[in-house]
Amino acid sequence: MKSALIASLLISMAGGAAAEDTPNTQGEQIYNKWCAACHAAGDAYPGTLALRAKYRGAVPDTLVERRDLNPELIKYYVRNGISVMPFFRKTEISDAELDALANFLAKTPSAK
Ligand code: HEC
Repeated sequence: MKSALIASLLISMAGGAAAEDTPNTQGEQIYNKWCAACHAAGDAYPGTLALRAKYRGAVPDTLVERRDLNPELIKYYVRNGISVMPFFRKTEISDAELDALANFLAKTPSAK
């Protein structure tokens, strides 16, 4: 029983490493590191609350559920900030990382 669990864990880890590009795990990791603290789902996140107030249900308040964002727009907000959202420097999120992040959020193919 226990060894079966360990074996399945190892398989899922190996699978994650092999399928580096699909799904976009790098973009998701960057999102979790820098964005989820404000944009995760729920009532405890200032970004989510601000977007809920801004769009009043016209689009999802949670960034990862949006289908209307394009990579260029996301990159603009990340490099420039908006309202209380800070901008992020290239020493924090490199251009390559920002590409992965923007493609993750915009649901565009990560290989670009
Ligand atoms: C300190 C909290 C905070 C962090 C961290 C943060 N944001 Fe935001 N973000 C906000 C707030 C608040 C808004 C809404 C600003 C406004 O009033 O328009 C926002 C707005 C946005 C918007 C605009 C959406 C729209 O339709 O207007 C995008 C895109 C966005 N954030 C992406 C990101 C990404 C990507 C990251 C991670 C790199 C991130 N944010 C990190 C707080 C944050």
